[in-house]
Amino acid sequence: MEIKTIKKIGVLTSGGDAPGMNAAIRATVRAGFYYNLEMYGIYRGYEGMINDEIKKLDSKNIAHVLERGGTFLKSARSAEFRTPEGRKKAHDNLKKHGIDALVVIGGDGSLTGAHLFYKEFGIPAVGIPGTIDNDLAGTDITVGFDTACNTAIEAIDKIRDTATSHDRLFFVEVMGRDAGFIAINAGIGSAAAATLIPEKKMPIERLVERLKARTKAMKTSNIVIVAEGGKSGGAAEIAEKIKKELPYYDIKVTILGHLQRGGAPSALDRVLASKLGVAAVEGLLQGKYDVMAGVINNKVVYTPISKAILGEKEVDEDDFRVVRILST
Ligand code: F6P
Repeated sequence: MEIKTIKKIGVLTSGGDAPGMNAAIRATVRAGFYYNLEMYGIYRGYEGMINDEIKKLDSKNIAHVLERGGTFLKSARSAEFRTPEGRKKAHDNLKKHGIDALVVIGGDGSLTGAHLFYKEFGIPAVGIPGTIDNDLAGTDITVGFDTACNTAIEAIDKIRDTATSHDRLFFVEVMGRDAGFIAINAGIGSAAAATLIPEKKMPIERLVERLKARTKAMKTSNIVIVAEGGKSGGAAEIAEKIKKELPYYDIKVTILGHLQRGGAPSALDRVLASKLGVAAVEGLLQGKYDVMAGVINNKVVYTPISKAILGEKEVDEDDFRVVRILST
């Protein structure tokens, strides 16, 4: 592949925000300055690219952002960018600013955008996996996942206190879209009675049996983690079904929701985001286009975006086995 001369890089965050996105932007911009490039912030993701919300960044823009949750570049889910007309407008704006390459920080939808854009206009792009869902192949872990798991576990610990005080059964719903990665970690890390994930169907009868066994064993608090994309329904739906089967339980439902997306990034997310920001810029300079920078076994690797977004990352069978063994 021909290596293009790159002088100006645009960086954007898109889709659901994730803790560590600011750290990834900062590392990308710092690495750009290190290699004497001009760096541009594209605000509000692809929506901002279409509406020309593009500004040249200097070192002041990225001071004291590493430790902050959210994304100072803002984020959006752009329906217009999904249309060829929207992408043409976006491309015209990049040309206007002389931007020759992109670093896109986001999840599968955001990386799909970068992939399409490269195919249609040949704009070199490197993706950084930024999503709490951890559902991208080509990296052991995505930026934001570790913080989201920590947040979920901290919240569940608090729920545990009140669950124990009242001998209650709680159904706690965690995010993850169609993937059960947050649920698995939250289940292991909070000693859940059961963990329901989209990847494995658990018949209600089995859950009922497990809860009955726990009653026999005099367990005073029960927390069931439900991944939002679960096949048997959300936490509220499952709680309703269990109420019918086990009426003696005092049941409550908590949906953790967007609090899992906020907060200062963990040490792991800060370091991961920083490594990947540098890797994204270096990848572009080495002619690695249409790829996602990720970390596998603690080494930076570049995976074609088309492969990273296929939804091929699977919940580790061993992790699931651990959940089963520890929940009985
Ligand atoms: O992809 C991140 C995520 O938080 C998912 O876990 C969740 O399903 C979705 O985004 C929620 O999206 P929104 O913030 O647009 O409601």
